[in-house]
Amino acid sequence: MTQFKNIFITGGAGYVGSALVPALLKKNYNVSVYDLYLYGDIFSNLKSNPNLNQIKGDIRNKKKLIESAKNADAIIHLACISNDPSYELNPALGKSINYDAFFNILEAAKKNNVKRIIYASSSSVYGVKKEKNVTEETFPEPLTDYSKYKLECEKVLSNSNLNGLEYIIARPATVCGYAPRLRIDLTVNILTMNALINKKIKIFGGKQLRPNINIKDMAQAYEILLEAPGKKINREIFNIGYQNRTVEDIAKIVKKVINDDSVEFEYLPTTDTRSYHINSDKMKRILNFEPKYTLENAVQSLVEVYNNSLIKEGLSNPLYHNIKLMQQVNLK
Ligand SMILES: NC(=O)c1ccc[n+]([C@@H]2O[C@H](COP(=O)([O-])OP(=O)(O)OC[C@H]3O[C@@H](n4cnc5c(N)ncnc54)[C@H](O)[C@@H]3O)[C@@H](O)[C@H]2O)c1
Repeated sequence: MTQFKNIFITGGAGYVGSALVPALLKKNYNVSVYDLYLYGDIFSNLKSNPNLNQIKGDIRNKKKLIESAKNADAIIHLACISNDPSYELNPALGKSINYDAFFNILEAAKKNNVKRIIYASSSSVYGVKKEKNVTEETFPEPLTDYSKYKLECEKVLSNSNLNGLEYIIARPATVCGYAPRLRIDLTVNILTMNALINKKIKIFGGKQLRPNINIKDMAQAYEILLEAPGKKINREIFNIGYQNRTVEDIAKIVKKVINDDSVEFEYLPTTDTRSYHINSDKMKRILNFEPKYTLENAVQSLVEVYNNSLIKEGLSNPLYHNIKLMQQVNLK
């Protein structure tokens, strides 16, 4: 247990939250999830847990947000339009949630005397880099508005007068593996689902390096950032990644884990030149955090739920694909 008891998680009903919330509940934290629940009632099996408080709300609703975060000791801010295509679908909406509402989060933290805020930024803030090792000191050059506003929120934190409120910035790699609110629009997960359903993996380009982190390690990393002493991590930025692999290598890993010789690769051209290798040694150096779960474990976790028919229409169901759901809900 730790210095904080009441944890307020915006966007806690998303992919990462769906792994993190149960992990925190297991450690006896009181957890409040504040979310629009765009992807449904994902914690129905936890409803009887008295330590879980679920609030359906929009982070753009400042009054409700401040009121809801009343007892929070720490905030983990995950709520987001969380990929490039969904952001680009409606850039004004994307900015209002990903950037403008960030000031509401800060106000909720200050008004309620919250002690720590952990902000989910992204390793995509770096853009395309030639350096072999992209560390937290590498100059960020975001390529898209989604990534640009991730970086802008980081700047808001470092430029604000926070009066004793601690902050930590996480720059996660692309997350992979099974979680109750599953995203299949992420590299490892989509390649796995294509191999399982279509017996074919389309490889766009293939040589681009992608940094990855298993969802179990991602949840563990947030726990560590919650529990570490402020003097070690206040105002610090942490890359959170594990295996950096090319898209082609990820496809090969998928095929190997699935163990199905009939899976074919189809190579296609791409305009997506993003390629980067993030270095996450700082998490190890300062916090002794070493990821434990591999890409293979992530693929295996997806194979298991798929074989148990727990994934319905994995390639077309909007619940698993942010862009498809955002097209459907027409959020204003
Ligand atoms: N998943 C990854 O690979 C990855 C990598 C790097 C960074 N991140 C960041 O981590 C965070 C969590 O990612 P995720 O994969 O769980 O995303 P997600 O899309 O699964 O979850 C986001 C959650 O935010 C909620 N939400 C959206 N707009 C809201 C609003 N206006 N008010 C309240 N709730 C709102 C959604 O309902 C959803 O439950 C995001 O900030 C994302 O940018 C994710």
